[in-house]
Amino acid sequence: MMTTTLFDIQRTKTSRITEVDIENLPFGSVFSDHQFMMEFENGKWNTGVIEPYGDMRLSPAAMVLHYGQAIFEGMKAFRQPDGGIALFRPQDNIRRFNVSGERMCMPKVDEETFMEALKELLKLDSQWVPNAEGSSLYIRPFMFASEVHVGVRPSAQYRFVIFTCPVGPYYKGNVRVKVETEYTRAAPGGTGFAKAAGNYGAALRPTELAKAQGYDQILWTDAVEHKYIEESGTMNAVFVMDGKLVSPALGDTVLNGVTRASILKLARHFGLEVEERRIGVSELKAAAESGALQEAFGVGTAATMTAIEAIGFVGGDVELPPVEGWTIMPKLAKGLDDIRRGRAEDPFGWRIVL
Ligand code: COI
Repeated sequence: MMTTTLFDIQRTKTSRITEVDIENLPFGSVFSDHQFMMEFENGKWNTGVIEPYGDMRLSPAAMVLHYGQAIFEGMKAFRQPDGGIALFRPQDNIRRFNVSGERMCMPKVDEETFMEALKELLKLDSQWVPNAEGSSLYIRPFMFASEVHVGVRPSAQYRFVIFTCPVGPYYKGNVRVKVETEYTRAAPGGTGFAKAAGNYGAALRPTELAKAQGYDQILWTDAVEHKYIEESGTMNAVFVMDGKLVSPALGDTVLNGVTRASILKLARHFGLEVEERRIGVSELKAAAESGALQEAFGVGTAATMTAIEAIGFVGGDVELPPVEGWTIMPKLAKGLDDIRRGRAEDPFGWRIVL
């Protein structure tokens, strides 16, 4: 066992890297050699350990399995032109992780320890960062209640884990989304702004129903009136209306997406007009029908930027203009990718080189 200043490191004896077609990857089913793990007990975090990726032991009475005290994050690392590796805006994910944790009564992870864990893990598994266009190393930090106890209260023990997956695109192409006016993702005062695992579990049934109707994802509306657009299944939503970029304003029912923030910043940097505001379902429908809605896309770490080719409203679907003719989404996608992959200046300090 090796010891860094902060963590114990147990290296795998046999890397699995040679079994993987690293340039031709699915999303989320190939896992790198190592994982980071750290336990919280007696009111503090123990020393973290980096160990071979693998199953974890868990009691059937672990509180997470009963009361859903679990949060997660998603971030990415990219191969750079000089062969190096850069994380994209990891501090933003780390901060959001602790915001999610606070909402779920979970202990804070020290930001520096979190960053060190990421760097050590990636250095050890640096060969797992792919190079092909559209691919990257997806990083999944998460935390859950590990105390063995039956009864509803915050757990006194937690496990914080990071594993990584070399990935290709999350969505294989454009998506058709259904404006959801029956089910709800997030209500005011709820956990919609947090990356709480339960938010995703609760979205499964409505999403499966939408899929059975021929859609790929849901475009969620507000819980109170189902009249305003909030976000899409695994992504924030951005629309191009009359040449302007418009995205639903953040609030406690919308996830503060790092890719969303990056795209809006980049758009302003490119001189585009950007609005973050309430977007009525009726406004969106009228814009889609009149042609004022020129482009629509989802933005997220996993999804990156995914074109929405059709929107299903009550009363029927509206097709957007053919994606091949769009100009704004490709410009923003290229701008973002060039920064992430080290092919352009990084005016906002988004790259953290290992
Ligand atoms: C991400 O974009 O990284 C996410 O966490 C979405 C996910 C549910 C795949």
